[in-house]
Amino acid sequence: MNIREQFPILKITANGKPLVYFDNGATTQKPQCVIDRIVKYYTEENSNIHRGTHYLSELSTQAFEHSRDTVAKFINAGKREEIVFTKGTTDSINLVADTFSTKYLAEGDEVIVTQLEHHSNIVPWQIACEKKGAVLKVLPITEKGDLMVEKLPELMTDRTRIIAVAHVSNVLGTINPVKDIVAIAHSRGIPVLVDGAQGIPHVKVDVQEFDCDFYCFSGHKMYAPMGVGVLYGKEKWLNDLPPYQGGGEMIGTVTFARTTYNDLPYKFEAGTPNVEAVLGLETAIDFMDNIGYDAIMQHENELLKYCTEELKKIDGVRIYGESEFKSGVISFLINGIHPFDVGTLLDKISGVAVRTGHHCAEPLMDFYGILGTVRASFAVYNTLEEVDVFISGLKKVVMML
Ligand SMILES: Cc1ncc(COP(=O)(O)O)c(C=O)c1O
Repeated sequence: MNIREQFPILKITANGKPLVYFDNGATTQKPQCVIDRIVKYYTEENSNIHRGTHYLSELSTQAFEHSRDTVAKFINAGKREEIVFTKGTTDSINLVADTFSTKYLAEGDEVIVTQLEHHSNIVPWQIACEKKGAVLKVLPITEKGDLMVEKLPELMTDRTRIIAVAHVSNVLGTINPVKDIVAIAHSRGIPVLVDGAQGIPHVKVDVQEFDCDFYCFSGHKMYAPMGVGVLYGKEKWLNDLPPYQGGGEMIGTVTFARTTYNDLPYKFEAGTPNVEAVLGLETAIDFMDNIGYDAIMQHENELLKYCTEELKKIDGVRIYGESEFKSGVISFLINGIHPFDVGTLLDKISGVAVRTGHHCAEPLMDFYGILGTVRASFAVYNTLEEVDVFISGLKKVVMML
């Protein structure tokens, strides 16, 4: 079936116009197969996992654990135990920042992040640094939005304990050279966490090839339901780190005197997880696998290229993020027009959904000396015709303002 036809929501109208959904960086729409998977779970399988001996509990546990295998294979993790289900990227990063800092961060130590990070990959580290009296250092970027990776060796010191970097910038679209960054960091024995929220929906991820120590992502940005994410961590790290949240499932035995902890990955999965979302994630992975990353990337690149060319023809447009290595995200401003006005009018006049504002990346906005941008971000179901609607809508907006 045609890809687009698999997404029922794409048939709706917004403000009387056919919906053009270019807010995929915030969350993607869900294909029918993912929606059906959730319905099937609640119709035929619903039961709490890992705890029962009855038919339904075994069914849901098997399905849940099968999803873990699918995720492990999808990102080429060495072991299924290295896949921890979380609520999302934010939750995954907080898990690592909290537990890593508890064990490995001391006063005067350093954590390195980059100028283009989402707040989710800044604030958890800031909190950790504040608790421990450690210092947050920042790898700079160029005007075009590339990381100055050549400056990383001089930024790292004997006190650097971890580096946290986005795979792909949610604002600029820059695809960062995570493999190179990891190699540089590892040459000094420093682990690397990769925020893959905007990476995995668009770029093939092979955690063993990257050799990163942690890779974090959210289901909802890759056609899966909200409320599920993944923390991939190398087994040695996950074994080394202390537990994050306490509760059911993460324990070995509990007495009032002492608790022992469960094996990986359950040590980090306290409480009842979002089972239906985990199953939906597996279905979304199958959906992406069926299309294949080559086709996804090729299609999104075509949209990016065409949209960039057409945008540049509009007077006064400035695009933020001009890396040679870019995924399907375009941030821009039009001379003197507030991004919020552009977004609101695009929606009202043309039914086009874009995102406006600082995109949870205020330090990046500070770098460019702006308050926000308009962001169009593509997914596999978007079309060149939709880009035309977007561009002609923008031209109308410019004429009105
Ligand atoms: C680069 C990046 N990191 C982290 C996040 C946070 O993801 P979530 O809200 O799914 O936890 C986002 C969300 O937009 C993002 O774009």
